[in-house]
Amino acid sequence: MNKIQHRTPLNGTFELTGRCNLSCKMCLVRVDQAQIKKLKKRERTTSEWIQMAKQVADAGTLGLLLTGGEAMLRPDFCEIYEAIAKMGFLITLYTNATMVTEKIMDLFRKYPPHKIGVTMYGASNSTYEKLCDCKDGYDRFIEGIEQLTTLPSLFEIRTTIVKDNRSDLSAMQQFTKEKFGPDKVLQISRFISKSIRGGIACAERCRLSPEENVAMIDSGLVETYHKVKNGELELPNTIEKYPLKRYGTASESGYLFQNCDAGINQYTITWDGSMYACELMSEGCTKPFEVGFQKAWEELPNCYPESHSIQVCEQCQYEPFCESCPAIRKAETGDFFGKPDYFCAEARCIYNMLKEMHVI
Ligand SMILES: C[S@@+](CC[C@H](N)C(=O)[O-])C[C@H]1O[C@@H](n2cnc3c(N)ncnc32)[C@H](O)[C@@H]1O
Ligand code: SF4
Ligand code: SF4
Repeated sequence: MNKIQHRTPLNGTFELTGRCNLSCKMCLVRVDQAQIKKLKKRERTTSEWIQMAKQVADAGTLGLLLTGGEAMLRPDFCEIYEAIAKMGFLITLYTNATMVTEKIMDLFRKYPPHKIGVTMYGASNSTYEKLCDCKDGYDRFIEGIEQLTTLPSLFEIRTTIVKDNRSDLSAMQQFTKEKFGPDKVLQISRFISKSIRGGIACAERCRLSPEENVAMIDSGLVETYHKVKNGELELPNTIEKYPLKRYGTASESGYLFQNCDAGINQYTITWDGSMYACELMSEGCTKPFEVGFQKAWEELPNCYPESHSIQVCEQCQYEPFCESCPAIRKAETGDFFGKPDYFCAEARCIYNMLKEMHVI
């Protein structure tokens, strides 16, 4: 079962911690010490991550994404980063940019990440306080951005839109243009997943309704688009693409994540040391720190059920605009083949909007 002919662990994610200095209300992964204890888990040590990096390099990993939680929160971040950087990976770092120290900058000047993805949560301290429970979060973010942008790294600026920062969206877009020039686009993520792997926030409580989400596009806040390219409908200013073909709604038998790279050429190792095909997963993992990376990678496809068609999706007229995938289905419904109502409503709203615009 689940035989895939060509798999290679080209791209990996190391989620170095689940903890964070911010407490974003929608965070899907954040845990604190009390929750770590309750889950009866532990973070992996400095040497464990460095040893793991050696193993993944030997197994063929080229791109390594370091994320969290907030990776810079770890007192040993510099030690881990330096060791990993010396191994020659193409490193991407995801950060909220509020914990950039002089020590970290010295290290980054020596070994710049290939790419830095910074998430911006608002355009004022009051929004950071409301959403992230951090009174001076915006000031710290600005300080961090000023430092990180002196590096030669590729730079991506992103935001995740929920109720508490929706009204800051245009100010964040303006900030991006002023700081990086008119061509730089603030990457907007509207898709808020339910919390996973014991994350303590209640993500669904703060996400916009599907109607509000799509209204953001319709109102021009997320710039209206529209162009059809290579069979995909693109919405400029968003990281979303609408494939005009089947996407994640599995219709054939075979490997569960056959429509994306999860478990085929990418993997995630979470803060507690579990390996998943995709970072959105809560179930279906192997244990690379216990059995070794190579064995954990080889065993990974066996953790997931075979794909099969989903009757309700087969007959669904909104399917071309549906962003669901097995991981989202699992997070939303507890079932890899469940019907994720929130995402269904989104797809319906997108369909209706495009219909009104006479795009479809
Ligand atoms: C979990 S954070 C970890 C890296 C870093 N702390 C940061 O803020 O970028 C990674 C990304 O996930 C986004 N995110 C947080 N909660 C989410 C959710 N419930 N659904 C989808 N994305 C979420 C964040 O806004 C951020 O862009
Ligand atoms: S989304 Fe990122 S910055 Fe916010 S609490 Fe989660 S890990 Fe921290
Ligand atoms: S919108 Fe819902 S029913 Fe339609 S394809 Fe997507 S998940 Fe299936």
